[in-house]
Amino acid sequence: MMSINFTVHTVNIDQSIWMISLKNKNKKLMNEVKSTDLLSKSLKSCVKYLMRITQITEASPLTVEGSFTPDLLISKLWLWEELSRVLDRLDIQQVNAVYVLGSWTGSVGMVLAAKHFPADTIINVDSDPNWISMSQEIAQDMGFSDRTQHMIKDANSIDYRQARSPSVVINTSTNDIVGRDWFDNIPPGTVVVLQGRDATITTQSWDSLSEFESDWPMRQILFRGQLPLQDPETKYHRYMIIGQR
Ligand SMILES: C[S@@+](CC[C@H](N)C(=O)[O-])C[C@H]1O[C@@H](n2cnc3c(N)ncnc32)[C@H](O)[C@@H]1O
Repeated sequence: MMSINFTVHTVNIDQSIWMISLKNKNKKLMNEVKSTDLLSKSLKSCVKYLMRITQITEASPLTVEGSFTPDLLISKLWLWEELSRVLDRLDIQQVNAVYVLGSWTGSVGMVLAAKHFPADTIINVDSDPNWISMSQEIAQDMGFSDRTQHMIKDANSIDYRQARSPSVVINTSTNDIVGRDWFDNIPPGTVVVLQGRDATITTQSWDSLSEFESDWPMRQILFRGQLPLQDPETKYHRYMIIGQR
């Protein structure tokens, strides 16, 4: 019964990603999704967690399954693609540390690892110990735990001591992380990737890309863009800026 659920889920995700990519006429992402085995790889690895969460889904809207919706996977692939392009332009071939703030199930790290992103270490930071232990197990299952660290910490108290240049700080949870010390404390020169969105009931939300961008001042903006997407409930825009702090 459980594996049938999982199969259906996988097929649905494949189809919806395809449809969303098609709708956005984003040929590059379409080809990316077509050619990558990332979906099956990450979902297969998550099968036991998906089984586990079928028992807690109703009580918990934040589920493993919820972190692999098509819009979120597309957002992570988009992040990887644009970040790789920016690093090429900066002539950075290898990154020391990648901090992922509000890492949830570790899906950003999963995409980066599956795409062989050139980082010595990926550091998942989340204030919720349950998510950290889950992302730890997933990294183990997928075989990249040797290059991943996990921290149970409020992102606002991170001291970025491993962020030797060149390093990257990623926050795709800007809608959820309250406070801005996590941003103000980022060492100057660090490459910073931020994603946020509109149309959400979280405590923070931005109505436009420029509004989002003006909240996070960078020394140099290297990429700015938005994607029209759809989550299980509503259409929305996902913003992304990449810059140097
Ligand atoms: C629900 S997820 C949202 C993820 C985002 N939409 C994405 O696709 O990447 C937000 C995560 O941020 C974490 N979080 C919230 N506040 C935090 C804080 N102050 N420090 C670290 N993690 C935090 C939550 O525990 C949760 O795992």
